[in-house]
Amino acid sequence: MRAGGAVTARVPAKLNLQLAVGPRRADGYHGLVTVFHAVSLFDEVTAEPASQDGVTVTGEGADRVPADKDNLALRAVTALRAAVGGAARAARVHITITKRIPVAAGLAGGSADAAGALVACNELWRSGLDQQQLGTVAAKVGSDVAFALLGGTAVGRGRGEQLTPALAPATAYHWVLAFADGQLSTPDVYAMLDRLRARQAGAGGEPPSPGAKAELGTGQPSRGGARGERGDGQPPRAGGPRKVGPREIELSAALMTALRSGDPTRVGRALSNDLQPAAVALFPALRKTLAAGLELGALGALVAGSGPTCAFLASNANRALDLAVSLSGAGVCRSVARVTGPVPGTVILPDPKTAK
Ligand code: C5P
Repeated sequence: MRAGGAVTARVPAKLNLQLAVGPRRADGYHGLVTVFHAVSLFDEVTAEPASQDGVTVTGEGADRVPADKDNLALRAVTALRAAVGGAARAARVHITITKRIPVAAGLAGGSADAAGALVACNELWRSGLDQQQLGTVAAKVGSDVAFALLGGTAVGRGRGEQLTPALAPATAYHWVLAFADGQLSTPDVYAMLDRLRARQAGAGGEPPSPGAKAELGTGQPSRGGARGERGDGQPPRAGGPRKVGPREIELSAALMTALRSGDPTRVGRALSNDLQPAAVALFPALRKTLAAGLELGALGALVAGSGPTCAFLASNANRALDLAVSLSGAGVCRSVARVTGPVPGTVILPDPKTAK
C-alpha cells in the first residue's frame, strides 16, 4: 500500500474516429466496429481505505453523477473485488472522482472513472492483475471501460470491449471539442438509431421524408469538395446519402490508411459515426454546431460517440486555437476545449507525499 494509503489514477476521455454500428443483438447491445482515440481531457480517480465503500464526485457536472452503488466507479470496485477475492474481499474503499470530462457527453467519462477505480484499487490492494486481466474485469463493467485502460488509438469490436491497438506513426492530432448545453443518454441514442433504421426499412430503404433526410444524414457533414462523400472516404452510393443501415459493419480502410499516413487532412475526411444521425435527431442544434466548425476550417467534424459533444480536427495547434476561439464566439455550443490525441490510457499519478 502507498504511503498515506491513497492511490490516484488519471484517465482520458475518448473519441471514436469511426463508429460503425450493426443491428441490435439479442442481449440488447449493438455489434460495433470502432476506432477509439484517447484525448488529453482527464478525470482523476483516488481510492483510499475506508470503513465502507463510498464515492465523492467533484468538478465538471459532478451533481449529475450518481453517488451511490449505481456509480460506475463503485461498480468497478465491486467487479474487481469479485475477480481478485482474497484480502480484497474485506477491503472497503472511498473513491474520489475529480471530473473534467463532461457527464453524458459521448466522451466515455463514466467509463473513464470506472477504469480509474480499477487501476487505483488494483494498486491499493496489491492485487497484481495485469493489463489483460484488468481488461476482462473492465469489459464486465461497461463497453468503453477496457479502452479507457488501454488508451492510444485502438480498434474495438464486439460491444467495443475487444481491442487491438492501431499501429500508426507518433502523430499528435489537434482537436477542438464543442461541449453542448445539454446531455444525451447513450441507450436513447442507440434506440433512436434502431427507430431510424426501422423507419427506413419500412420506407423501402429510402429516407422516409425530406425532413428525416437530414436526420439520416451521412454520419459526416459535407464540406466543400467532400460533399457527397461517404464517411469512409468512398464515393457516394447510387441513390444519395448513405443509409443508416443496418448493414455489414467493417473497419474503414480509408481511416486506417489515413492514420498510417499521419496526415490530419486525410484523417479528417475519413471520420465517421453511425450514431451521428440519431444524436442529431435527438439534439437538432448539433447540426448547426457541426456545420459551423466545418465552415470555420476544421478538417473534419463528428459527434463524439453518442453525443452531444462535437469534435473537430485541426491541422495544427495554431489552427486549433483559431477554431476554438471562433467556435466559442459563434454561439453554437456551451464551451470549447482544445485537446490532443492519442494519449496513454489510465496511469497512476505519483504520490504527492513521496514525489520530489
Ligand atoms: O456498456 P455501457 O453500459 O457503456 O452501454 C450503455 C448502453 O449503451 C447500453 O445499455 C446499450 O443501450 C447501449 N450500447 C449498445 N451497444 C453497444 C454499447 C452500448 O447498444 N455496443
